[in-house]
Amino acid sequence: MHPPAIPGHPLSATPPPDSTNPFVELTARHVRQLMAGDSSGHDWWHIWRVWQTARRIAAAERADVLVCELAALLHDIADWKFHDGDESAGPRAAALWLDQLDAPAALRDRVCEIIAEVSFKGAGVETPTKSLEGAIVQDADRLDAIGAIGVARAFAFGGARGRILYDPESPPERHATFADYQKNGGPTLNHFHEKLLLLRDRMRTATGRRIAEQRHCFLEQFLAQFLTEWTGEA
Ligand code: ADP
Ligand code: NI
Repeated sequence: MHPPAIPGHPLSATPPPDSTNPFVELTARHVRQLMAGDSSGHDWWHIWRVWQTARRIAAAERADVLVCELAALLHDIADWKFHDGDESAGPRAAALWLDQLDAPAALRDRVCEIIAEVSFKGAGVETPTKSLEGAIVQDADRLDAIGAIGVARAFAFGGARGRILYDPESPPERHATFADYQKNGGPTLNHFHEKLLLLRDRMRTATGRRIAEQRHCFLEQFLAQFLTEWTGEA
């Protein structure tokens, strides 16, 4: 299941290999159907990118690829942001799906444990993972929040929530608790300081850190250019 071929586009030349695992195949189909219409930055292609990145990091880190693939595919099917802040909705929906597939209970539990710990919860809140696979899926998800795609997703999310781009009179906050982070409704540019610029130093795997480095640089360049244009200096 890879993106449609676009002539001349790099992805067309090297489509990622489809998985041969039936759990992964069926789960990808299921999630694609569930998330097709989202416009808040949590659409199917976000899942697809996290899936591919998780697979790449898992191979480099010699982790359990199947666990990483399933957790990446299922990590956003019932995100707290869209379920009145209910953090247990995601793992619950994933468990229901994996039970429907008759997946082994041990596999289901490992995947659901990761889904419960993947989310960012505010600058001042630790989000440890219990397994290498959890660290990998967390890294893969966070890598999709930085770089060019991260910029695009932040403004898509902000737009979907009716947030303004930037307000020089509204400084970013450091959220000490998950509840504060959830309540936050500031301009989208604040989110760069409240989350995106923090992610590079919170990568959990060496491979994730390497990929984050270049994407982080791009965020800094974007912000510098944005603020220069804001003041009319460029
Ligand atoms: P995680 O996957 O760690 O839970 P989120 O779901 O919070 O991350 O974020 C998903 C996407 O939405 C990311 O690209 C993130 O930057 C963006 N996003 C989340 N909160 C905001 C916000 N307040 N303003 C702008 N973008 C946001
Ligand atoms: Ni995600």
